[in-house]
Amino acid sequence: MIWKEVDIVSWMDKTNEKIQANKSELTILDRNIGDGDHGINMSRGFQKIVDQLQETNYSSVSAVLKDVAMLMIRHIGGASGPLYGTAFLRLSLATENIQTIDTTTLAKGFHAATAGIKQRGKAKSGEKTLIDVWSPVTKYMNDTEEINPTKLVQVAELAMENTEDMLAKKGRAAYLKERSIGHIDPGAMSSYLLFQSLAEVLEGGSTT
Ligand SMILES: Nc1ncnc2c1ncn2[C@@H]1O[C@H](COP(=O)(O)OP(=O)(O)OP(=O)(O)O)[C@@H](O)[C@H]1O
Ligand SMILES: [Mg+2]
Repeated sequence: MIWKEVDIVSWMDKTNEKIQANKSELTILDRNIGDGDHGINMSRGFQKIVDQLQETNYSSVSAVLKDVAMLMIRHIGGASGPLYGTAFLRLSLATENIQTIDTTTLAKGFHAATAGIKQRGKAKSGEKTLIDVWSPVTKYMNDTEEINPTKLVQVAELAMENTEDMLAKKGRAAYLKERSIGHIDPGAMSSYLLFQSLAEVLEGGSTT
């Protein structure tokens, strides 16, 4: 599909709906291995994002993504706000000055975004963070000929579930050492919701 400004807005709307519906689940996950604020951080941040996007007219996909990044940094807060913000800034850069943004362009953007999260969080795969969802999803997107939305959701879901058995090496969860095992990482779940929403937009196809 060819990505337009409205598709990004729709992606953020769908993500917001899922974040709001799963706010308490995200809170519970973060209460298990963190400080219990991930549900609140994400719901507050995404509500601000959709409100702001609704009020603004954008002239490029890159501009929408840049605004999303800024709003994430400002309104999600915590450790995850700047990490999500970095990812969306990279997505914005990857789509800058490109007339026709197809899914291949976006997949490359996600690759840069994942690298950005790793850099910003000084983290790598296998450390029980949102990277453990971003990384396999990005790999799937870039390795496949054509992204299959159903498969994309499966990759994201399995990746999220795989964080359960991991030992946390980053953030507050790392203080728990072995006790961090047996719980899904909250950032992995919010990332799963983000990619599930992306798949729904892809499923719907181009709006123009
Ligand atoms: N250094 C890091 N690199 C990548 N991801 C991280 C890092 N630190 C935390 N995270 C992600 O952020 C999520 C927690 O986000 P939250 O909004 O709860 O912020 P926080 O409470 O400030 O974080 P934390 O409790 O992890 O310090 C974690 O589940 C994890 O996925
Ligand atoms: Mg937290």
